[in-house]
Amino acid sequence: MSQEQKKLWCDGPYELISASKAGDKAGEKPTGSRAMAREMILVHNLLIRGINCVHRQAVRLSQEGSAQDKLDFASFALQWSRTLHHHHNLEEDELFPRLAAAAGDPELMNGPSSEHRDFDAGLEKYEAYLKAVLEGREEFDGTKLKGIVDEVMPIVHGHLVREIDVLLGLSRYEGSVDWMPIFEEVVGNSASRDMKQSWYRTDLFPLVLHLHDKSFEDGAFANFPPVPWIVLLGIRWIFCRTRASWWRFAGCDGNSMPQELPFAEEA
Ligand SMILES: [Fe+2]
Repeated sequence: MSQEQKKLWCDGPYELISASKAGDKAGEKPTGSRAMAREMILVHNLLIRGINCVHRQAVRLSQEGSAQDKLDFASFALQWSRTLHHHHNLEEDELFPRLAAAAGDPELMNGPSSEHRDFDAGLEKYEAYLKAVLEGREEFDGTKLKGIVDEVMPIVHGHLVREIDVLLGLSRYEGSVDWMPIFEEVVGNSASRDMKQSWYRTDLFPLVLHLHDKSFEDGAFANFPPVPWIVLLGIRWIFCRTRASWWRFAGCDGNSMPQELPFAEEA
């Protein structure tokens, strides 16, 4: 992106989480619960970028976009909430129970888990509106969508930040628990299971690639996703094309490098 860029980007209005929160320093990668928190920051940041893309483009898109732009944008926005659900389902069904079992405390992750319920209703409203637009029952109104985002996002954002603190707090178990292998096993199993599903290959994984920013904080998260280059090449050339009309609204290109948001509000 050029330095003269006047359009806003997806680094706001909802604030990204610094890698330094997990103790990330140049040339020194964190270990233990801090390494796990670092991976979670990466995922939470791409979720934050996604909703920022929706927030910052909704109004101009409804004023200037074509009928097809509006449908594609609604699909992009809906894929964001599907991705958020997928992330939280994995945590509730697999990751959090595994962490709790390792610590020997069944209630270990009850806090973050119960916080997911705090924004269920807000997300339902967001999704119901987007589905109504996609089914032709409602006109796309960017101001309305932005308002729905502003109702639910403060709750979601607070949760995404607090969960990092909870993971960092697991350092108190480090004498007896090695957290990272558990985290990597859960995430790895989930990815290999999901990669067999076409919706994951065409809708979810490409969204992740287009919302991850390799240039963030001088490349703190440049080594993502942890997939062999040949697999990644295949995903970019085959699966990212299926919904290319959605990804034009994302903050990054298929190589996870920043791209201009076509309908962003001016800075
Ligand atoms: Fe999370």
